[in-house]
Amino acid sequence: MSRVTAALGGRLAFGGDYNPEQWPEDVWASDVALMKEAGVNLVSLGIFSWAWLEPKAGRYEFGWLDKILGLLHDGGIAVDLANASATPPPWFSVAHPDSLPVDVDGVRRSYGGRQAFCPSSPEYRAAAAALTEAIVARYADHPAVVMWHVHNEYGCHNWNCYCDTSAAAFRSWLQRRYGELEVLNDAWGTAFWSQRYYDWDEVIPPRRPSYNTFANPTQQLDFARFSSDELLDCYRAEAAIIRAGASQPVTTNFMDFFKPLDYWSWAQEMDLVSNDNYRLGHLGGTGATHNLSMSADLIRSLSDTAPWLLMEHSTSAVNWQPRNVPKAAGQMRRDSLSHVSRGADGALFFQWRASRAGAEKFHSALLPHAGTTSSRWREVCELGADLVKLAPVAGSRGTARIAIAFDWNAWWGVELDSHPSTDIDMMTAVRRWHRTLWEHGHTVDFVHPGRDLDRYQVVLVPSLYLVTDEAAASLAAVVARGGTVVVNHFSGIVDENDHIRLGGYPGAFTDLLGVRTEEFGPLLPDQQVTLTLAGDLVGAATGTVWTELIGTADHDVEVLATFADGMFAGRPAITRRRPEPGPQGSVGGVAWYLATVPDDATLSGVLLTACRQAGVAPALDIADWPAGLEVVVRENDDTRFVFALNAADSDVAVPATGTDLLTGAAWSPESRLAAGGAAVIAARRTPGGG
Ligand code: GAL
Repeated sequence: MSRVTAALGGRLAFGGDYNPEQWPEDVWASDVALMKEAGVNLVSLGIFSWAWLEPKAGRYEFGWLDKILGLLHDGGIAVDLANASATPPPWFSVAHPDSLPVDVDGVRRSYGGRQAFCPSSPEYRAAAAALTEAIVARYADHPAVVMWHVHNEYGCHNWNCYCDTSAAAFRSWLQRRYGELEVLNDAWGTAFWSQRYYDWDEVIPPRRPSYNTFANPTQQLDFARFSSDELLDCYRAEAAIIRAGASQPVTTNFMDFFKPLDYWSWAQEMDLVSNDNYRLGHLGGTGATHNLSMSADLIRSLSDTAPWLLMEHSTSAVNWQPRNVPKAAGQMRRDSLSHVSRGADGALFFQWRASRAGAEKFHSALLPHAGTTSSRWREVCELGADLVKLAPVAGSRGTARIAIAFDWNAWWGVELDSHPSTDIDMMTAVRRWHRTLWEHGHTVDFVHPGRDLDRYQVVLVPSLYLVTDEAAASLAAVVARGGTVVVNHFSGIVDENDHIRLGGYPGAFTDLLGVRTEEFGPLLPDQQVTLTLAGDLVGAATGTVWTELIGTADHDVEVLATFADGMFAGRPAITRRRPEPGPQGSVGGVAWYLATVPDDATLSGVLLTACRQAGVAPALDIADWPAGLEVVVRENDDTRFVFALNAADSDVAVPATGTDLLTGAAWSPESRLAAGGAAVIAARRTPGGG
């Protein structure tokens, strides 16, 4: 159990961002009373309070915060206290105009929104450090404070900066990475286009180059790495001040698949991983639900399957999408429970009381504008009661045996410009592969390809364009120990410097997959090719986006699909290698390769066959997985918790045995889960297994 859960008396967290400074003081007491009524036990305080806490440089005013912390503590509500560094006040930006961020075109952005600072600005860093020190000195021992919230959603509005200060910081970062300018020249391939550097001072961020040309790709890649590291440095500095003066766990809230920040490196710096997730209306009902599940799977994985905290989601509509759709009855509950099923030890929201002014006044909240005589408020109170019943789940972990290899470096790399096709991006493939398994009841982790892959029986490798030698070796080791990997086109193409791995594509994986590709054949948007299936794959099939000329395939490679037409007719499109057991203890697993983007049925055929043949089954044995049913398992040493969420319009059979923690009633294999309903079926684990 995490220290935060322990501080909450073993209960799951429930609550959200609390912004009392937006309200007159006489509202505060009723806030606390209503929080108690709803079952709120944790609020995040002070996130955007810098201007209130430091009205003038170096003059701190803590009176109001003292008061509200006291009220919350007296009400039995714990606090996730922010160090308030997320948005410097206007006076700060006026005093330090050079601290404002500069975009790729050299335009300095203004204050007036939020996060208006350059991550490398010494003035910003000094002021944020001083503020953090003052807050920690005052509140480290406050009994309400159970955790610390550093900043807020790092990089959300300033993920990079191209100013001269950033340029100098970028050069220092490059000097640490490469040591010698000669090494940088080599890594960046500056023999090309007369780009060779003779002096470190010539090196700059990839500012917008002259018309119709591309900035150096490795320069762009390194700038993405630097920008993630530079914000991480800000976090580290503030977290270090907190840890030096206080003992509570420290976190900052992630934004799930946020491209600018390499969360694998960030997660290592968290005492407790936390995340914000919002329903993406444009993805549509099941698309948005799937996106939530996939995000939660990422966060559980970043937390190395240990419990994490859902720091923010919404009770209903947000304010920042083109059309902000409210949540239907039951949706908020299912969303919260879905996060919990995937490892969250609590469900917090943005925000407690809906604002009456400012850019977020149309954002939903636990306490809506309509007040307590509203169905939203009733649902909020019901959710609070549900989460109390789920206390036994706290501390339990996920059990996935399938993982998607995911690396921010590969993401940055694959989406660089000047590539064979603009139709390849990271999230399209990742989302589609994850969704295919999600629709069939599988739970999938994400894993850094260079880290320990031993707990996984199947490792999926969509769009791992850039791969280090170590990561390639880890993936090869999966197959050597009898596991399965599935790799798609345009993976394994370059090394960490974005240099092509020579000798045939997909360079890093040619031996693993037993294929050698000579040429790529991207398809035009309206083009598709026909595939002829064989072996385990059956039916009519097509490919889009991509084809390639697989020149040779090793003798132990089966061709499961062939291009029937198009430029590479007659050549392999989907292959499967089953290497023979090798000399050094290799038992020989399975390595699949997809040289095109197959239609949905063919992709399902590949992924489900790969999992079945690897001996990995969904959480429950259900023949045709019903659309809309999610089943996810958490376990601790004694108990297995089967979360079942039914987003469909009709009831479904959930063949599990135990006690439904939400109702207290026995659950038997014949029990059915109502349309829109949820059950959390707890059962003692049998010794040695399930
Ligand atoms: C998050 C942010 C919150 C609030 C919320 C609205 O990105 O952390 O402060 O703005 O979005 O959905």
